[in-house]
Amino acid sequence: MTCAAVLTVKDLRVALDKGDSLHPLVKGVSFSVGRGEILGLIGQSGCGKSVTCLSLLGLLPPNLTQTGGEVWLNGTAITHLGAREVRSHRGRGAAMILQNPMSCFNPIVRIRQHFIETLDSHRLTGSDRGMQRVRDSLEEMGFTNPEEILGLYPFQMSGGMLQRVMIALALSLEAPLLIADEPTTDLDVLSQDRILNLLRGLRDKHEMGILIVTHDLGVIASLADTVAVMEDGEIVEAGSVTQIFSEPVHPFTKMLLKAHFGLYGVFADIPALREGKRQR
Ligand SMILES: Nc1ncnc2c1ncn2[C@@H]1O[C@H](COP(=O)(O)OP(=O)(O)OP(=O)(O)O)[C@@H](O)[C@H]1O
Ligand SMILES: [Mg+2]
Repeated sequence: MTCAAVLTVKDLRVALDKGDSLHPLVKGVSFSVGRGEILGLIGQSGCGKSVTCLSLLGLLPPNLTQTGGEVWLNGTAITHLGAREVRSHRGRGAAMILQNPMSCFNPIVRIRQHFIETLDSHRLTGSDRGMQRVRDSLEEMGFTNPEEILGLYPFQMSGGMLQRVMIALALSLEAPLLIADEPTTDLDVLSQDRILNLLRGLRDKHEMGILIVTHDLGVIASLADTVAVMEDGEIVEAGSVTQIFSEPVHPFTKMLLKAHFGLYGVFADIPALREGKRQR
């Protein structure tokens, strides 16, 4: 793992705009993701993980607003940039896998067109290399016949297939940072395993920095280098996976681990677990 940060977040604040008042949802969150580092963001449903991810790349819905903090993407402060400039940093600087794949596709536009538009908007098409990269990404996601997939409409695909297509879309951008919000939800265990191995490969081979949000603490234990634990819009504890899973300090982290694993000493042998995974 090297240390140059691909993502730095300082005191990020997001609120729900209720018209006459602002209701805080994310309350001063700070973390960073280095090149080749996988950071897992965990926490209860509704604590603000997805809102945090969306705000990092200027993708908040209109009723949510960033009320404070700074975000640096590959060394550039993007918080005060205009929408067009943020967009140019997105995609080339960071790819994102959203939690709900169905909502990310226009159901009556073929998959091929979604790829073309995404690559176009980041000025990556116009070459055979662009489309070859698309086909390679689809194959990496386990589609043995990429041309067939490119010809389908989203409504002809299952949720799990769309999730894999969305990941392929993110991969084809070859960005140095991947933000993955629940990337393995809705997937069968074989597809989950494929995606986790792929993410490991991206980190190991391309030194991609990855921010992964998941409810599956087993995924975090085997994949992530570092963990940030979120409770009610705040990060209450952060550190290496080994440290957090073996010796949690904050009561919420203890509760989360206990609920998931039964006993929070159970992953004390994380180094062995991780070595096993990497050797596969
Ligand atoms: N568009 C929105 N309008 C109003 N409130 C929202 C909106 N999006 C999110 N929220 C609220 O913000 C809070 C954080 O939501 P968020 O989606 O970030 O949770 P999460 O930690 O990702 O949960 P989960 O693990 O279930 O995905 C929740 O209280 C949610 O109701
Ligand atoms: Mg979420």
